[in-house]
Parts: sequence; C-alpha cells; structure tokens
Amino acid sequence: MATTSVPKRSPLQQDISVDVCIVGAGISGLSTACFLSREGLRVAVLESRQVGSGQTQRTTAHLASALDDFYSEYEEIQGVEKMRLLANSHHSAISKIGKIVQELEVDCQFRRLPGYLFLAPEHSKDLLEKEYAAACRAGIAGLTLLKSPPVKGFDIGPSLYYPDQGQFNPLPYLLGLSEEIERMGGAIYEQTHVQEIRGGEPAEVETAAGPVIKAKHVVVATNTPVNDRFAMHTKMAPYLTYAISLKVPRNAVTTALYWDTLENYHYVRTQPIDETHDLLIVGGEDHKSGQVSDQAERFGRLEQWTRERFAEAGDVVHQWSGMVMETPDGAAYIGPNPGDDPNIYIATGDSGMGMTHGTIAGLLLADFLQGRENPWAEVYDPARTPLAGSAWQDLALETANVISKYAEDWLSPGDAIEVDQLENDQGTVERSGLSKVAYYRDENGETHRNSAVCPHLGCVVHWNDAEKVWDCPCHGSRFDACGEVINGPAVSGLKSLEKNGDANEIPTEDTSDTAAVHDHDGRAI
Ligand code: FES
Repeated sequence: MATTSVPKRSPLQQDISVDVCIVGAGISGLSTACFLSREGLRVAVLESRQVGSGQTQRTTAHLASALDDFYSEYEEIQGVEKMRLLANSHHSAISKIGKIVQELEVDCQFRRLPGYLFLAPEHSKDLLEKEYAAACRAGIAGLTLLKSPPVKGFDIGPSLYYPDQGQFNPLPYLLGLSEEIERMGGAIYEQTHVQEIRGGEPAEVETAAGPVIKAKHVVVATNTPVNDRFAMHTKMAPYLTYAISLKVPRNAVTTALYWDTLENYHYVRTQPIDETHDLLIVGGEDHKSGQVSDQAERFGRLEQWTRERFAEAGDVVHQWSGMVMETPDGAAYIGPNPGDDPNIYIATGDSGMGMTHGTIAGLLLADFLQGRENPWAEVYDPARTPLAGSAWQDLALETANVISKYAEDWLSPGDAIEVDQLENDQGTVERSGLSKVAYYRDENGETHRNSAVCPHLGCVVHWNDAEKVWDCPCHGSRFDACGEVINGPAVSGLKSLEKNGDANEIPTEDTSDTAAVHDHDGRAI
C-alpha cells in the first residue's frame, strides 16, 4: 500500500551517471521514470522542490477521454486519423492509471465514472450534435446524446454522455509512483534545482548546487520546458484556471464529471470527504496568465455560478488556481526537443488534460527511449505544426498578445496600488526610472524589493493576489512573493534589489552558448 504522507527526499550531493535523467517530479516525470525503471533502466529524477509540488498538486484531476478543446475542432486542425490516435491515447492513459493503482495498491480514490458535456445557456444543441459526430468518428465507444440525464443535484439539460471517464487524488498516486521508482532502483532527489542541460553523449545536467548528472537521455518534464528559451514558448500560451470546493451532503450530487460548452468552460466533480459529506469541486474563469488583477471577483463568479445550479452547496472550503499551457490543437508536446541533441526530450503543453497527457508522456517517452515505434508519436510531436488556418490564426493572436503585453507593461507607469498603500501579504509593481520594481509587503509589514523584469525574456511580472505570487504574462514563469522562481521557463528568480540593487539593469538570463540553460531553439533571437 502506498503511503499518503509526503516523505522528504535528500538533494543530490554528488556527481552520478544514469541511463535517464528526468527533470521534474510531476505526473509526466514520475510516470516516465516509473515505466522506464520497471524496464530495468537506471533512472534519476531531479525536483527543485518536492514530489508533486508543481501544477500536478493544483489539478482537479478529471481523467477524461472527452477532449477539452473538442474533437470537432481537433479534426478540423489535424484530420480524422490523428484524431483517432488522440482519442485512443487518452482512453489508454485512464486505463493505465487504473492498472497502476491496482498493481501498486495506491489509496488515491481512483474510480471510473461517466462524464457529461452539457450546454451553456447561450449554446444550441447543434454544438452537442457536432461534437457527438466527431467523437464517434474518433472511435469513442458508448457515446449518447441525452435530453436531460437523470443526475441528482442540478438540472443538467441536454448533454453528451461519455462512459468510462475517471477521477483520482493525484498526490497519493504520485507517491505510489515514487515508491515504485525507488523499489526498482531509481532515485529521486528533491530540493535539487537544475541550472543547465547540455545534450551530447553523454548528456549532462548541472544542478544549481554543483553536482552534475551524466545520462544517456534527458527528459525535461517541468510543465514549461526550462531548456528552451524561445521556440517552444511561441507554440504555447499560459492560462490560469480557478477552482473552489464546497461541502455538499453525501451523494447529493450524482458522482460524475461535468463540463459545460463555454470556451472558458466550467468543470465539476465530487470527492467524498467523510461519512456524511462530499466536496463539490468546481473550476473555470480561465484567463491568460499575469493579465488580470480581479482574482477575487473570479472566485466570486465561480461561487455564484455554483450556487445558481447546486441548491445544496454549502460553504466554500478551499479555493486555488492552477496553470494550463494551451497548444493550438489541444494536444500536448511530447517527444524529442526540436533543434536539440537527439537524446533530449520534453513533455509540456498539458492543454487542461494534464493527468492523461502526463501518463501518455510516460508511455510514449518509454517507447522513444527504448527505440520502439509508437503510433501516437506524430500526434504529440513537439515539432509539429497545425494543418488548418484557424489554428495558425490562434497562434498568431497569442504571439501578438505577448508582444502587446510586453510593450504595454513597459510603457505603463505601474499598478493602481501604490507602495505605501500595500496591505500585509500584498504586492504591486511601480516604475523606477526606465525599469519596473516588484514590491511585496510581507505578513510582518516588511517591504521587499525585486526587479519586476522576468529573467526569461524580459516581460514585466504581475502580482497574483489569489496565490500571493508574481506571474509573467508572456510564457508562464511564476515567482514566489520574494522573487524565487517556482515555474519556468525562467530558471532563476527575480533580481533582488534589497541591497540598493539597480532596477535599470535588466536581469535577463544569459543567452550565449555558455548560458545557464542551453538555447537550442533560441537561435533566432
Ligand atoms: Fe518568458 Fe517571462 S516567461 S518573459
């Protein structure tokens, strides 16, 4: 039986050699490490904080073969053959998770359950019929269009029924994978920040503390790849999504996954918490990362939406947000890192389906590294381009958005809140000469100064008051309140100005060949 507490693991303290070095201990990294160590490869996982401390712990853990961005849209972009492979991969991922749970006896509340795609008030049934037809062509079995499914707890209306979806608690699952990796002779090092990745034979991964890992293969599974400066980040867009959980009487809402048809859609499921209550977990209100400051209103709207539909919803128990990396066609990027040495791989672009995509990454990368063919490879190829015009337009709009945010933030005077108006545990950005400064007043009333310039490519970070972090609006880097990097692609923190540092020195990470992170894709800049 896997434990559910979080055991601490030591940092890497000396140079080592392994077959595979995996950077990132979320579901992608640990699935890959688990499947490869079961095949007898010597595996080491490096995690800058703790197992599961990244985006995997923030997911609402819908295990769906229903596609977030709709099969009808994917088919227009990539065609029916790839769509069938895509559907097969998500279906297989749910089965694989179920199998692992059984084999390792992980107590993570995994279960199979139905999913319902239901109409948002402004949409017509045509939309459901179009998706039903495409999902049938994708090969999903057992789909049914229903006028009004007999679910308890809310009036769902016309819906598309998906059988055999799943849900689980991801943290115990990750701990189960971790224990299996270690049982198979693999190693997991926590508090081990990666500073530089060099391809070659062997590849080398240098840690911030100094020790170097030599490996035949390196897999970068860090939500956004920290080994790419530019190219992959122009093919993805970081979005934030919000979630709340509310107590409801046990079984007051039928156990199922629910999604509405909005583009920034609502998603709902339940989770038992004790003999008498379930948690109703509701998400939505997505927006581009680092580009709004109305997080409190978003949580408020989510609660209002829930109360209008679920009469038995009690108090809000938790609220949180998570980051989603969106790709133009809604499929992740898993495979060889474009333009890099052939033994460097990435897994990124979760597109709101991180749990199935993370498991697909494990299955696909195990095949890549073992030299086996896998029919899903072309669907997830990081070097792929969309086939249809609409996806190109979306990509162009995302790029234009990054450029306009860059200019707007550099030209603006600063945030509406001035430094002397800051409350405790709050941050704001102010102009200082030609540059921008990120001020954070901590819980003791002490004010901390960092450069507000993201060290990845120089965009200006924004305060996220819901999470008490700094978010970059361009490619998804995130920094804690005091400026330490939490989420890449930045690999270093915001430049500290505590000791009279000069805010006008732009602290962009080195882009030369001897850069902290090699820039195989970044040759265009
Ligand atoms: Fe690229 Fe900040 S994440 S500039």
